[in-house]
Amino acid sequence: MGELTTRDGPIGWGIIGCGVVADGFASDLRSLPEARLVAVTSRSEERAQRFADRHGALRCHARAEDLVSDPDVDVVYVATPNHRHLPDSLLCLSNGKPVLCEKPFAMNAAEVREIVDEARARGLFCMEAMWMRFIPAVREAVDLIRRGTIGEIRTVHADFSVNVAFDPTSRLFDPSMGGGALLDLGVYAVSLADLLLGPPVHVAATSAMAPTGVDLSTAALLRDAQGRTALLSVALGSVGPNEALIAGDGGTIRLHGPICAPPAFEVSRRPATTAPAPDDPPTERVRRLVRASPALTRAARATRSLAARNTRRHRVKKHGHGFAHEALEVMRCLREGEPESPLMTLDQSVRIAGTVDAIRVAAYEAAT
Ligand SMILES: NC(=O)c1ccc[n+]([C@@H]2O[C@H](COP(=O)([O-])OP(=O)(O)OC[C@H]3O[C@@H](n4cnc5c(N)ncnc54)[C@H](OP(=O)(O)O)[C@@H]3O)[C@@H](O)[C@H]2O)c1
Repeated sequence: MGELTTRDGPIGWGIIGCGVVADGFASDLRSLPEARLVAVTSRSEERAQRFADRHGALRCHARAEDLVSDPDVDVVYVATPNHRHLPDSLLCLSNGKPVLCEKPFAMNAAEVREIVDEARARGLFCMEAMWMRFIPAVREAVDLIRRGTIGEIRTVHADFSVNVAFDPTSRLFDPSMGGGALLDLGVYAVSLADLLLGPPVHVAATSAMAPTGVDLSTAALLRDAQGRTALLSVALGSVGPNEALIAGDGGTIRLHGPICAPPAFEVSRRPATTAPAPDDPPTERVRRLVRASPALTRAARATRSLAARNTRRHRVKKHGHGFAHEALEVMRCLREGEPESPLMTLDQSVRIAGTVDAIRVAAYEAAT
């Protein structure tokens, strides 16, 4: 880790890839006094210059090889498409630069392991840019869960759907660039399940495919060794619930979507209720009876108001677009000489990539 642990001034960032996400990240960096954007690189000099002007970068490099040799760059943010994450991260690490690499960390678990092995062999900081884990609402909700607010976790339901039009030229639908709903959005849902449950011992999945061969949508069911389950759904090109529900035996936490950066969450605390007997009257008959009786109507209202009193909404402000939180954690780790963040460890990234691989295999087997 060398000098960074003893440096006091702002930490110098380099960015490889001047696309959409890099734009949001760079604008958040600009709001952090402990960071300065030193250099950017792009395949187009003009695009890099425009990006540098927009975000106040000190210089542009014509090639990524030059950026990773820049002595003022302390850490590199890799924001290229998924298929470039392995070569770009290895380029940084082999030139002694710590790395924050966009999600998914790489195309599969074998590639993620290569990055992790290189970072560990060189003793360099490295992290997957799973910004969800650093968003204040997620950290607060996880903290409440760990303190037992909703009892023992039983299940996690998470959906991430983005209604984007099919475009065979977009990286999102191009298999050679690591497109598809599972790689693009599924990593968030799997990462959330991994954070709250143990690693899955059973994985079932099914996907609907685009003409280009990537998955347009995937639904997966995971079960861990303790019998806790996760039901995950992701889709490109359709609308979904876009939220996560974490259910414990004493209540639930609902993370408002998008799950990558939830703006708020709701905690509902409920005592366990007795399951209805199979011969209970049908719901509509009960409703008619309740409506017909003023006393029953009052009781139903009281139950609803009790449920409302047991539900608390937490709105938690994030800094900028929300990328600032992961950037701050990277800089904390660099200053304190920590080779990885305890909030998003390299082992977790390897495991998450392994689960994504297992979902892909299960969906393939279900289709054949
Ligand atoms: N954290 C988040 O919320 C979030 C959101 C969106 C995307 N992402 C992740 O961030 C990464 C980039 O996504 P994006 O939406 O920013 O993509 P994008 O707009 O397409 O930008 C990617 C950039 O990578 C560069 N690049 C380098 N080699 C390339 C190649 N062979 N083909 C195409 N582009 C290449 C391009 O920059 P130059 O043309 O300037 O070289 C391009 O602008 C992806 O891994 C994605 O999963 C994360």
